[in-house]
Amino acid sequence: MAYQNLILEIEDKLAVLKINRPRALNALNSELLGEMAQAISELENNSDVKAIIITGEGNKAFVAGADIAEMKEMNEREAEDFARKGQGVFTMLEQSAKPVIAAVNGFALGGGNELALACDIRMASSKAKFGQPEVGLGIIAGFGGTQRLTKIVGPASAKEILFTGEMIDAAEALRIGLVNHVVPVEDDLLAKARELAEKVVKNAPVAIELTKKAVNYAVTADIDTGLEHECSSFAKCFKTEDQKNGMAAFLNKEKVVFKGK
Ligand code: HXC
Repeated sequence: MAYQNLILEIEDKLAVLKINRPRALNALNSELLGEMAQAISELENNSDVKAIIITGEGNKAFVAGADIAEMKEMNEREAEDFARKGQGVFTMLEQSAKPVIAAVNGFALGGGNELALACDIRMASSKAKFGQPEVGLGIIAGFGGTQRLTKIVGPASAKEILFTGEMIDAAEALRIGLVNHVVPVEDDLLAKARELAEKVVKNAPVAIELTKKAVNYAVTADIDTGLEHECSSFAKCFKTEDQKNGMAAFLNKEKVVFKGK
């Protein structure tokens, strides 16, 4: 499917989804969010794709936020619909069966930071800048920032970022646990993200999917419910050929090629 605001490339089990509105620093408008929903469904249904990397087109921005020009004239009802739309798309990513890596190549502000937060793992260029500047526009974060940022970096760091609206650099993002890795600006961020994705996709896909669900579950569940969820997911693996083949290959000192079933 052809997209106006996205570039989707699929190669060797990996999909790279680029947010492609560089003239507006990849700001997210309704049309783009609709396309993202379509692209995510397309990737979800493509069994050749085992992991997704999300990045921004151009050398300046990952995503500089939701589109301020579009939001400016919204009324309360339209604003709620817009927030719900973005939240829905980002939740699709969070709940995708496939691991999603954000390769944050520049500004990740407002909705852009919220997009990165909905990904499973965040890798940033050393020139990336993160922030939630909404309060300086008279609004609050609305694509999940108040919730996911808090769960990822804790309430104190989240409140400082959300209250001040100021940007933090990649080193600070690493320090507070907002990103997993920082890649020096002279290195190829996308290549590093691919390397990380390849370490994931060599493993059993069903096991990765169940692990993602179980870790997501841990964010909200109490420990007993979470452990129960883990037990049943662990047991489900034993219905797969990959478990049989993976364990047999280990014992026979052979290399396994997982089938995803
Ligand atoms: C619409 C945007 C935009 C955005 C940048 N642009 N960010 N357009 N929405 N979020 C446009 C600019 O208007 C400009 O268009 C072009 O991109 C280049 O941006 P400049 O500002 O000229 O670049 P620069 O001086 O380098 O500054 C970069 C920047 C700045 C620091 C990232 O653009 C910036 O502060 N952007 C807004 C960041 C922000 O407030 N994000 C949060 C939005 S609220 P022209 O036509 O002049 O070239 C949000 C809410 C989410 O995300 C929840 C919703 C429910």
